[in-house]
Amino acid sequence: MAKVSIIGAGQTGATTALWLAQREIADIVLVDIVEGKAQGKSLDMTEAMPVIGSDVRVIGSNSYDKTAGSDIVVITAGLSRKPGMSRDDLLDTNGGIVRSVISESLEASPGAIFIILTNPLDAMSYLAMKVSGLSRERVIGQAGILDSTRMRSFVALELGVSVHNVHCYVLGGHGDDMVPLTRHSNVAGVPLIDALPPDRLEAIVERTRKGGGEIVGLLKTGSAYYAPAAALAQMVEAILLDRNLIIPASVYLQGEYGQSDICFGVPAKLGRGGFKEIIEYDLNQAEQQALERSASHVRELIGALNL
Ligand code: NAI
Ligand code: 2OP
Repeated sequence: MAKVSIIGAGQTGATTALWLAQREIADIVLVDIVEGKAQGKSLDMTEAMPVIGSDVRVIGSNSYDKTAGSDIVVITAGLSRKPGMSRDDLLDTNGGIVRSVISESLEASPGAIFIILTNPLDAMSYLAMKVSGLSRERVIGQAGILDSTRMRSFVALELGVSVHNVHCYVLGGHGDDMVPLTRHSNVAGVPLIDALPPDRLEAIVERTRKGGGEIVGLLKTGSAYYAPAAALAQMVEAILLDRNLIIPASVYLQGEYGQSDICFGVPAKLGRGGFKEIIEYDLNQAEQQALERSASHVRELIGALNL
């Protein structure tokens, strides 16, 4: 059985463990800095396995010993934002946390692939790349599946069609200037720009961009976790089962989309070994400019890391 460790047993980490346990594709180790938190949640999940009918093991710990030899390490450790905060306000605190958890988990699992969730996502993925010294294929940030599934869900609700029929692609940084690509998105093959009137399409694009903030405003005590965790589980599955799944993810660019030395959301093919390929869409001038605006924001954050 493959082994997946999830660092941070809070809302996203624990929910990811549950989505993964249901898939029965890996044993799971949850690690948290808070005494008893990972252990308590793991035990609770273990006790659910007979009902779910899954034979995976879920273990909780405050140390990294149990994570040794993981195939994949998912990093969710860090603060989440409260109402009124932007993801960027988390940079300093979460930067320190990501630095330490990457070093400790890499020491225990030198062959692992790392999936980052902690915000601000693109800057944290960049930090993880630099601190770990790993090849770019093995450090992948989660944002694009979440931003795209938000857009997919809004389109499906608006048109009254199955979510299976809706394909949306949101690129760029995981911030309010992310880039929902309406020309490349479609409903059962019909381009989104033909499936929806312009004002409805614009409203969906805007709601997608602010989707994280909408949930924070409602929850008041933290940020989204069901959809982010579902996205992480899909990434883990794509890698472990070598699915060659093309999804938007934050990866280190070396000239693709005109960008270098940045972690940024672009379509990437996930399978054994991490991401295998970056897919370059044919973008028009407006789309390219929107990506550049988003990239300059991510670069400001990366600069503030003082690496
Ligand atoms: P949470 O507060 O529920 O869980 C975070 C957990 O990390 C806590 O249990 C905390 O004790 C633990 N932790 C803190 N420092 C640690 C350390 N040094 N070692 C191990 N564990 C440590 O927060 P939640 O909702 O799970 O979010 C986690 C992070 O993911 C936040 O930064 C949030 O903004 C981000 N996020 C990013 C998304 C994305 O799409 N990229 C989506 C959702 C959340
Ligand atoms: C979100 O978009 C918190 O970044 C996270 O919900």
